[in-house]
Amino acid sequence: MPIEALLRLNHLWVSPRRANTGHVRVDGSCNHEKVSERGDPYYRHDLALVHHRGFAFHASACTPGILDLLAPVLANHGLVLELGCGTGLLTKELIAAGHRVIATDASPAMLEIAHSVIGDRAEELRLLTLPDDTLPEADAIVTIGHPISYLADSDAVDRALIAMARALRSGGLLAIDICDLAWGEARRSAPNLGRAGPDWAIITEFSVPSPDRFIRDMTTFVPNGDGSWHRDTERHENVLVDTTCIPALLHAHGVVARVGNAFGAETLPDGLRVVIGHRSA
Ligand SMILES: C[S@@+](CC[C@H](N)C(=O)[O-])C[C@H]1O[C@@H](n2cnc3c(N)ncnc32)[C@H](O)[C@@H]1O
Repeated sequence: MPIEALLRLNHLWVSPRRANTGHVRVDGSCNHEKVSERGDPYYRHDLALVHHRGFAFHASACTPGILDLLAPVLANHGLVLELGCGTGLLTKELIAAGHRVIATDASPAMLEIAHSVIGDRAEELRLLTLPDDTLPEADAIVTIGHPISYLADSDAVDRALIAMARALRSGGLLAIDICDLAWGEARRSAPNLGRAGPDWAIITEFSVPSPDRFIRDMTTFVPNGDGSWHRDTERHENVLVDTTCIPALLHAHGVVARVGNAFGAETLPDGLRVVIGHRSA
């Protein structure tokens, strides 16, 4: 079933009608607007495309380590819940390895591309916004590209982590990445960055207004198909947390976890941490 039909069925469809600014507007008939907690949708149409075309490297780096961690889940035919799946860059590798996956994200534009990549091979593609949407129970919960760092504040991050712990079945695995306070320290004077490919371009300005806040102001360009390019802008705010506090929080909810610098043998960006945990069987 096409993703639009799925979202309409669930009354979650966000119309892709575009205003002159290039911003996606929400269909008036939909009262379940699922966007960032600040109300400005993250990853609208153009940035979703740019992410898919130009930012696959993180998923490629994380995939081998995640697949190794998930080996026992595969052996037991367990169900994997992926949060913030984006355009399905990790999802397609999980499915190719034989996993049953419910892939979720808060961005309709990201899910639309994910559907074009994955088709009907996922158990489900679901619009799901952390921290308050109900999580389906699963034998593993994975998330990469730090979706949890897009939440409004550290309280929201804690609520999302507790929701993950509660959704994990006995013996289940948690494997997520998240921005630590060190992420901001490492980027305090990061210069603006321009990147481009044949069919995408992005200019990013960084700022660190406080030790727990990282902001990216992004201008994207994607071809219209008639020789002209469409310009859009998005501002992303990430909350940075002291990740050393996470194991105690998860422990209080039945998950024994550790914080590390990688899922496997990959080298991750400065200040990105992984949390790997298990709920006892
Ligand atoms: C940097 S992208 C990573 C996407 C994908 N995991 C990957 O690695 O290619 C971050 C993702 O988090 C999602 N996201 C942001 N806020 C979210 C929220 N509150 N709940 C769920 N997903 C969210 C975005 O829509 C986006 O797809």
